[in-house]
Amino acid sequence: MRPATRALPKAMLPIVDRPAVQWVVEEAARAGATDVFIIVDPGVGELIERHFNSQEEGPLPGLEHVAVRAIVQDVPRGLGDAVRTAAEAVGGRPFYTLLVDNLVYPGGDVLPGMAAASHGDSVVCLRELGTEYLARYGFIVPGEWRSEQVVEVLGAIEKPGVEAAPSKLGLIGRYLFTSAVFEALNDVEPGVGGEIQLTDAINAVGEAASCLGYVAANDLLDSGTPSGYLEASTILGAAHPDFGARYRAFVKEFTEGL
Ligand code: G1P
Repeated sequence: MRPATRALPKAMLPIVDRPAVQWVVEEAARAGATDVFIIVDPGVGELIERHFNSQEEGPLPGLEHVAVRAIVQDVPRGLGDAVRTAAEAVGGRPFYTLLVDNLVYPGGDVLPGMAAASHGDSVVCLRELGTEYLARYGFIVPGEWRSEQVVEVLGAIEKPGVEAAPSKLGLIGRYLFTSAVFEALNDVEPGVGGEIQLTDAINAVGEAASCLGYVAANDLLDSGTPSGYLEASTILGAAHPDFGARYRAFVKEFTEGL
């Protein structure tokens, strides 16, 4: 997303009328989250907290009962390390993890379904993905199916590539973890790209037979690339309650002229 992100953090890029990170916090709030910890790079926390906790402007609509705090990850050691940064703040509670690059479609929430599947286990959100994703996403080793949408996770491999792919079921950026993931992260060594991979901790939780996979009914939007960002803006703009109708009419007229 450069040059857009040379000075602005990616999480603060606007999608329609709010920063990407706000879409994700709203999604968590709809699922009942009351405490949100946003893992940020050094120097970014103040900006994010000013957005969510503005004294002058008051709370954001829908987020009146959510406490938002930024937690700094000093060195970018990977997604697993980022999650580990929140361990103390989270305490022993089960918690959702949401990646800001992946946004749900309007009406396509997945967290409630994941919570319903959990029964005390960790749950990772999955989609059957095409081979072009095998070098970009994490993929699980599936065990027995508990229902049409819920599968036992025996392990997971980050960016396996075609050769090592254990399945077509990819991790799409939504997780519900118990504190078992923090224990697993303590033992995770640097993996793909020299980073502490969340997928390697999921592998350990899966090997301990306490992880399930929830296959989402819809894809997630990938707003972390320029083309995905444009698509996310169009889809979320077209669904906007105030100006979606006008935007849909514009898109229709515009595409007819292409
Ligand atoms: C991360 C995770 C990967 C997951 C992906 C979803 O990858 O490591 O397991 O499938 O997000 O977007 P990254 O985008 O950081 O390479």
